[in-house]
Amino acid sequence: MVVLGIDTSCDDTSIALYDGHRNRVLSNVVSSQYEFHSPYGGVVPEIAARKHAENIDLVFQEALKVAGLEVRDIDLVAVTRTPGLLPALLVGLTFGKGVAFLGNKYLKGVHHIEAHLFSPFIGKEPVYPFLGLVVSGGHTLIVEVRGMGNYRVIGKTLDDAVGEAFDKVAKLLDLGYPGGPVIDRIFREFEGEYLLLPKPRVPGFNYSFSGLKTAVRRLVEKGYDKFSVAASFQKTAIDYLLSKLMKALKETGINRVAVSGGVSANSYLRKALSELEGVEVLIPEIDYTSDNGAMVAYIGYRKFLLEGGDGLDIGAVARSPL
Ligand code: KG4
Ligand code: ZN
Repeated sequence: MVVLGIDTSCDDTSIALYDGHRNRVLSNVVSSQYEFHSPYGGVVPEIAARKHAENIDLVFQEALKVAGLEVRDIDLVAVTRTPGLLPALLVGLTFGKGVAFLGNKYLKGVHHIEAHLFSPFIGKEPVYPFLGLVVSGGHTLIVEVRGMGNYRVIGKTLDDAVGEAFDKVAKLLDLGYPGGPVIDRIFREFEGEYLLLPKPRVPGFNYSFSGLKTAVRRLVEKGYDKFSVAASFQKTAIDYLLSKLMKALKETGINRVAVSGGVSANSYLRKALSELEGVEVLIPEIDYTSDNGAMVAYIGYRKFLLEGGDGLDIGAVARSPL
């Protein structure tokens, strides 16, 4: 079964083709819009929607070309319908519905966070139970997963998402957008001593990143070197992510973790995870860390097998829980 996966939830126009039976990604094309949002230091929803509308057919044609397929080869259209920026989601969903309607194909609406959650398993079969750590620009969650559709969110951020904190800190330090990759590069090249930043105190497995951002602002105002501030922020933020994750693993007795989302590309996080003992760690290939169509096709295909397809009347929803 050939599955088309579409994601336009934020600022990347992402389309993939995926062979469900063989569990193989045939193409995964992403058109990034960061240069258009960069001057604003964050994503502007109307610009995102307009760029998606301009690019989506080109990205689709490119994905078909790379996969060596034609529109008629597609059996199922899987498309992100929630959560995300509403004008942006609408472009992908409408396009997906068009492909499904005109070609008489199945349609499946996908939850963006659920797609990230399973992205470490692309090319493999999911194994349960696992703790999912979803770390992106919009979300920071620890989820206890006992089966497909069987989720319990046991921790989440009470304010900023961790990726958002990277982006805001980069903006404070005048490093450009998106902040994660720039700060990560500075961290890798940094050889000095880390500055002391407070680790936020929040009960349970929840997170908070706003205090860390304020602490960074104070260091900037005091005139500290921006490279040591950036590197120290990354060290503190990732250590903090990991400390709560370790606590959650211990308290749930689960010894398998699947880390996903844009921040799972972080080099320090990946290195620290690879050194964990007694825990099976699953982490997506770099191409599947940030928003991509492959993760949408992967989960869409599996949910389609479990639940069947959706009607053409499904709508886009800006916010919805996992
Ligand atoms: O998953 P994603 O592409 O989009 C959302 O669904 O939000 O995540 C984007 C986020 C951005 O905040 C970006 O700064 C962050 O992921 N990011 C990183 C790295 N690469 C991307 N954060 C830390 N280190 C990285 N290497
Ligand atoms: Zn995402």
